[in-house]
This record gives sequence, C-alpha cells and structure tokens, in this order.
Amino acid sequence: MDIADKQNKEYINGSKTTPAVFIKTYGCQMNERDSEAIAGMLSRLGYRLVDHESLADILIFNTCSVRDQAERKAIGKIGLMKKLKQQRPGLIVGVMGCMAQNRGEELIQSLPHLDFVIGSGQLHKLPETLDAIIANRHKISLLSLNDEILTSMGMHHEGFLKIASCQAYIAITRGCNRFCSYCIVPRVRGREISRSERDVLAEARQLVDSGVREIILLGQNVAAYGLHGDTRPPTANISPFAALLTKLSAIEGLYRIRFTSPYPSYFNNRLISTIADLPKVCRHIHLPLQSGSDRVLQRMNRQYTAGQYLDIVNKLRERVPDISFSTDIIVGFPGETDADFNATRAIMRKVDFDNAFIFKYSPRSGTPAAREKQQTPQKIREERNQLLLADQKIRTAAHNKQLVGTIQEILVEGPSKRNSQHWNGKTTNARGVMFTPSPTIRSGQLLRIRIQRCSAASLFGVVEDDLKPL
Ligand code: SAH
Ligand code: SF4
Ligand code: F3S
Repeated sequence: MDIADKQNKEYINGSKTTPAVFIKTYGCQMNERDSEAIAGMLSRLGYRLVDHESLADILIFNTCSVRDQAERKAIGKIGLMKKLKQQRPGLIVGVMGCMAQNRGEELIQSLPHLDFVIGSGQLHKLPETLDAIIANRHKISLLSLNDEILTSMGMHHEGFLKIASCQAYIAITRGCNRFCSYCIVPRVRGREISRSERDVLAEARQLVDSGVREIILLGQNVAAYGLHGDTRPPTANISPFAALLTKLSAIEGLYRIRFTSPYPSYFNNRLISTIADLPKVCRHIHLPLQSGSDRVLQRMNRQYTAGQYLDIVNKLRERVPDISFSTDIIVGFPGETDADFNATRAIMRKVDFDNAFIFKYSPRSGTPAAREKQQTPQKIREERNQLLLADQKIRTAAHNKQLVGTIQEILVEGPSKRNSQHWNGKTTNARGVMFTPSPTIRSGQLLRIRIQRCSAASLFGVVEDDLKPL
C-alpha cells in the first residue's frame, strides 16, 4: 500500500485508524473458504477484521444463490444496511460471491446504497476495487468469470481459518461442468478447473507447518479433480483425485483428510481402494444422492441410477467396513410423484445414512428444471421435507445410541461455543463429541474418548487416553 492509498484509507469515516472490515458469509463451505481468503488478503494489506457490522468501515456480504431462500436472506440483510449508511455515509457496502455473480447489475440498480458487486470469479480484485472506491467514491461491478481466479485459490491467512484452528479448507477445484438441471452453481461459479497438484500440496504443507491437523478438500465435484473438466467419468481405472489423496497422506504431521462433495459416478475401484488403504482419509463420505427415483435422477441430469449409487455404497462398505455416509436430497423436484418420493425414502433407509441435508426444490431462473410446467406444489414439497427430516432424525439418534459405551478416536477441536466447560471433537465418521477437558488438552490432538451418553444429535464422553500421532 503506498502512502497516498494509506491516506485515502484513513479518510474513511474521518477516522485515523486502519479501515475495519466485517465479512458476512452465506452458502456452502466453498464460500466460507473464499471468505477466509478475502480476510487473509485484506489483513495482509493492513485492513482490520472485525466481528460485528457496527464496528466496520467496510461491509462485505459473500453471498449464495443456490436456493431462493439463500438469496432472500442476504438481500434482506443487505437492505437493512441502507439505514446504517444513512447514519454513516462513509461506510462502504459490497456484495461478493454467487449472488453477486447471478444478479450483480440488478443488485446495484435495486439497492442504491451498494458500492460494489464482485462476482465469484473476481474475488482477487477486491483490494483494487476498495482502493478505487476510497479514492473516487464511484460504484464498481466486476462480474466476468475467468481462469485468473485460479491464481487466488490458495490464499489463506493464519488466524482467519473459520473452523477450529487445527482444521483448514483447501479448494482443489473451482466451478462445475455437470449442469444438473436444477442447479445454478455452474452458472455462478463458471467452468470446472483444477488447481495444480503442486499448489495443493504446497498449501497443505504450509497449513500443517502452522499447526493444522485436518484438511478438508473442497470442490463442487472433488472426485473429478485433475480430469480437465470432462463430465464423463474415466472408463479406465484412473483417478487423479486418488493420487492426490495418496500424496497428501504422506505429509507428516497431518492426521486427517476429508473431502466434500464427490459426485457418485467417479468412485471407481482405484478411488475406493485408495480410500481403503489410507488410514488418514476419514471414514465418512458425503455422497449427494438427490433422489432415489431413476426417472427423477435422469431428469435431474444426474449420471447414475439408484442401483449404481447403492453399488458404490456397498463396495465402499465392503472395503472400508467402518465407513459412514451422509447425503443431500432434493424433495419436490418438478414432476416428482408419490412413487418417486417413496423410492427416495426407501433408498435412504437402505443406505442408513448417518446424516442427510434435505432441501425443498427451489426453481432457479435460467435452469432447465425451472422451465418445467409440472412444478410440485409448495405444500407437497413441505410435507415431503418433513417426512424425510423425521425419518432421518430417528436414524441419526439410533446411530448415536449404538455408540454409547464404545471408545472413539476424536480430533480435538476446542472449547464448545455453547458451554466452554465442554470441548468439542469429531470422530473419523464425522460425529461430533463433547467431553470435559483435562488441563493438558490442546486443539489438534487425537484423543480416545469413552462415549457415556447421547442426545438426538450429539455424543458426550470422557477422556480415555491420548493417542500418538499416526
Ligand atoms: N456440488 C455439490 C452440491 C452443491 S449445492 C454436489 O453436486 O454434490 C448443495 C446441494 O444443494 C445440492 O447437493 C442439492 O441437494 C441442493 N440444491 C442445489 N440446487 C438446488 C435447488 N435448485 N433447489 C433445492 N436444492 C438445491
Ligand atoms: Fe450443482 Fe450438480 Fe454441479 Fe453439484 S454437480 S454443483 S448439484 S450442477
Ligand atoms: Fe451457494 Fe455458491 Fe456455494 S450458490 S451453495 S455459495 S457455490
């Protein structure tokens, strides 16, 4: 930052301190990771990160477009900032991320108190955008999607890892080429690109050197890593993603590797046996199913059948007996009949998911499914949602109950937000465990916990003994 810039920044709100930034994040882990990158980028340039909007000179909303509700929530919140800006005219308000990409110009028109919109492909341009706004106070929108973003995918900054400090997200792919017929993500995140293996490994090593013990690999379809955006899973038994897992596993000091989300069709024998052979790869897979009806899956443009999905689950269970699964389901897709819905219910029972995220179908403008005439009535979407939520609640509670009395290995995350007397950790199966800490316990440690009781959603236990690093 040169001196003139610094003076400009000091001019905001007439204050002489460095500008304070508040970042509010909506949407998925990819967006959380992007917010970490934004926080890291700005703090390196001398901005201060604050944790409440009232303390900020610059407000950034990193938004999501995946469902109507996600957009409405953010628009409502951004709308409220108008008043704040009337009270403090120097305030800078900007929208970033997927909704900025989806509705950028429209947002600038309808929310005149916005200073900038930056789409998900241009987040690395934030510093220069802020400089220009501070210097000239004009509105800016940056909405193109291109590969330049790749250069900014590896930015992290110590202290801005949103999740526990022993865990970190690493984006390995960006964008999506699959075009599921209901989904807006390929339109707002652009074409799928993979980061180089060298970059990913370097980022992982750097994070581990700074104390990270668990990495979570992120992408819209992580299992397509390194396949150059080809939407046909390779016929030969190759998997660059499996190769990446193997190389990451070799990093000393790294205890655990998770990833989300893999598209089911990419689980060939190579990937399955790699997971089985690598103990650092957590025994939990988030495997989005979406529907249990072949007819609906086909109309969703998902390239697998319910039977093929079950085959993958069974193969994984055969090779990795202690593996657990979670999933994403959409209810009320256009034309979904009772029979289709019951097929979803049945396969969920068969797989016996540990956890499931159930979404009511939300038409997204510009997607093929939104143009279908036969939209499912809102009331039916709601009913089906409630039914699956109730089914899953029983299943999750039953899984938790089975663990009472067992000893589980957990990675210690840190004190519980709700009750600092308790600490949190996770099992390799991604089950949350709360326990009473002893004075020597540190975040990032592997511990054996004896599970003593459970609630519908959590496990509670006592420390059995420390584990040596793998
Ligand atoms: N790339 C990931 C999913 C990203 S979006 C994958 O394919 O696995 C997260 C979830 O949101 C999806 O799995 C899907 O269940 C849900 N979703 C996406 N579009 C939706 C829509 N239009 N209405 C309701 N749910 C939707
Ligand atoms: Fe959306 Fe399908 Fe891509 Fe997932 S794979 S982001 S659901 S288009
Ligand atoms: Fe939402 Fe964008 Fe993620 S649309 S779900 S924040 S990729």
